[in-house]
Amino acid sequence: MKTAIVSGVGPLEGLGAQLCLRFARLGLHVLAAGRTESKLQTVVDAIAAAGGSGRAVVADATSEADTERLFDLAGDDLALAIYNTGNNTPGRIADMSPEYFENSWRVCCFGGFLFGRAAIHRFGNDGGTLIFTGASASLRGRENFGAFNSSKGALRNLAQAMAKEYGRDGVHVGHVVVDGPIGGEKIKKGLPEYAAKLGDEGMINIDGIVDGYVFLYQQPRQAWTFELDVRTSLEKW
Ligand SMILES: NC(=O)c1ccc[n+]([C@@H]2O[C@H](COP(=O)([O-])OP(=O)(O)OC[C@H]3O[C@@H](n4cnc5c(N)ncnc54)[C@H](OP(=O)(O)O)[C@@H]3O)[C@@H](O)[C@H]2O)c1
Repeated sequence: MKTAIVSGVGPLEGLGAQLCLRFARLGLHVLAAGRTESKLQTVVDAIAAAGGSGRAVVADATSEADTERLFDLAGDDLALAIYNTGNNTPGRIADMSPEYFENSWRVCCFGGFLFGRAAIHRFGNDGGTLIFTGASASLRGRENFGAFNSSKGALRNLAQAMAKEYGRDGVHVGHVVVDGPIGGEKIKKGLPEYAAKLGDEGMINIDGIVDGYVFLYQQPRQAWTFELDVRTSLEKW
């Protein structure tokens, strides 16, 4: 059975969790990684209830030891690795502490380096698919988001370098630019007034985002896409 690893798994109605559920439905054994065991267990229970196979792995994406242990659990049939971990760190640059800025980079970029490196080491002779979750921040700087913009932009460049460095070894690296708010728990529960203002039409449909990852995973070697962007029809971009 092929294995997938998804790093950055939180609430069931979230991108990380829905990536786990979809790839389990496609027949992969899924390692769901995040920092909160109860959330991961809910995701793994949902995978099992749908007839799939999954395992919860508590791992902090910024820790080399946690990342290596996570990949050790994947065994020999690692086919897909998704780095979905990311935080949105608003704030004006002049007011920002060095620790705050550095933490944004650790979660969005450094963790992606640890994850991508471990995946490249573990993929077998047939290679594998390595996908990073991006955001509007990956492509541009914006006021009040200097830390997030710089770390997501750096992750994108890192992903591009990995794509060029390891493509010939059969490693398909993809980057998905999620351009706008996701219609999931984070926005709906965390920012209910904002979610109400946007409405369902103004938030990106999670299933639609997941379709993009499946598309990348299923592409033949002779027709690889590096980057996909997804946004609602209402998004100004
Ligand atoms: N939500 C949006 O509107 C939106 C928009 C554009 C792009 N994105 C991108 O989409 C991705 C998913 O974000 P999401 O906010 O929607 O969340 P999500 O996919 O529902 O869950 C991601 C989970 O990652 C976990 N996480 C955070 N820091 C971690 C760390 N250091 N190590 C391991 N796991 C960690 C968190 O759970 P624990 O705290 O339990 O670990 C969080 O719930 C991110 O890369 C984000 O930048 C999100």
